[in-house]
Amino acid sequence: MPKKKVMLVFGTRPEAIKMCPLVNELKRHPDQFQTIVCVTGQHREMLEQVLKVFHVVPDYNLQIMKPGQTLYDVTCNVLLKIRSVLEKEKPDCVLVHGDTSTSFSAALASFYQQIPVGHVEAGLRTHNLYSPFPEEFNRQAVDIISHWYFAPTEQSKKNLLAEGKSEKDIWVTGNTGIDALDTTVRKDYSHPDLQWAHGSRLILITAHRRENLGAPMHRMFRAIRRVMEEHPDTKAIYPVHLNPKVQEAAEAELGGFDRIRLIKPLDVLDFHNFMSASYLILTDSGGIQEEAPALGKPVLVMRDTTERPEGVKAGTLKLVGSNEEVIYQEFSRLLDDPKEYDAMSHASNPYGDGHASERIATILAQPGNWPNNN
Ligand code: UD1
Ligand code: UDP
Repeated sequence: MPKKKVMLVFGTRPEAIKMCPLVNELKRHPDQFQTIVCVTGQHREMLEQVLKVFHVVPDYNLQIMKPGQTLYDVTCNVLLKIRSVLEKEKPDCVLVHGDTSTSFSAALASFYQQIPVGHVEAGLRTHNLYSPFPEEFNRQAVDIISHWYFAPTEQSKKNLLAEGKSEKDIWVTGNTGIDALDTTVRKDYSHPDLQWAHGSRLILITAHRRENLGAPMHRMFRAIRRVMEEHPDTKAIYPVHLNPKVQEAAEAELGGFDRIRLIKPLDVLDFHNFMSASYLILTDSGGIQEEAPALGKPVLVMRDTTERPEGVKAGTLKLVGSNEEVIYQEFSRLLDDPKEYDAMSHASNPYGDGHASERIATILAQPGNWPNNN
């Protein structure tokens, strides 16, 4: 097969964490692929942190981030700014990841130039367009456009088949996010914040979902604070997302409490080790729902829906929504009831064996897997 020009486009922290392993894998095969990285810069500092850890230097950075950006800002700016990059590079295919507005706009821009799109982490579904918002729309829309579906699990493959996607275009690869875990988590890891928490049960917190901004986030944080106040043997660390709305809510509800540390976002190596050292995790994140089962850490998912039912089935994740009383009760129960805790804290990994990137590279190296006219 003649060498293919593959462009990977991503823009936020979680996309970068899951696409950098693939960038590095494709770059290991320069005889088969010319690998081009275009970051949109939907995130700035949180993206830079990841690129540094994986030693990935983008060929293009669209630098679109604005403080307090709206969905219109992100969608339009990516669409307009990526156009000339695609026109100049004319890649044989574009790879996007997951469900962000970067992914949607980059896929749409590629479609407008009839460049085939590969969707990494394809087929996740809640079937509720408003939860998570706007991610469920983004992932469904990308799957309308895509030629290759790199589904992380059998369940995500089933979701795609149920929507009429052709089986020959779907590959169950595992999640590229798991590829990193083996190298990040270290037994001899130490950090001043972990030393501070030593001797207490460490609670790790993250939150950022758009549908939780405002009143739901305040409720979530109030519930967490009430439980923490009643359990003096706990300490919490919360690397707060840089969204000003999240920062305000975190400071208002969790600030000024000596057993809760609000810190800057951690780089991924630190965060994985914090997860590994934690007693339990409270989050509305997507990626953490995949990583925590592998580490055997119970997660209370502060959302009404999840596109990651595998972790719920495995017993490590529990959906608790954003209702203050429900979070209060479920969080208290996990701290007070050892049986409940033990039931949730066994390691299982429904999301892959850490070789997803290699599988994707192998699939792309096969001429028969490309569209006929490409
Ligand atoms: C985005 C994605 C979401 C993903 C999340 C991961 C969309 C619509 N949302 O949501 O799917 O789960 O990233 O974290 O694509 N900010 C900074 N520096 C940074 C990053 C963010 O200052 O490095 C601030 C900016 O003020 C920015 C705001 O955070 O405007 C929100 O960022 P944005 O990407 O719009 O939304 P997220 O909630 O991060
Ligand atoms: N993460 C990180 N530093 C932090 C918090 C999270 O590196 O301070 C990692 C985490 O391990 C996971 C990813 O970021 O891989 C999740 O990102 P986020 O929650 O922002 O997005 P989502 O997964 O919800 O799209």
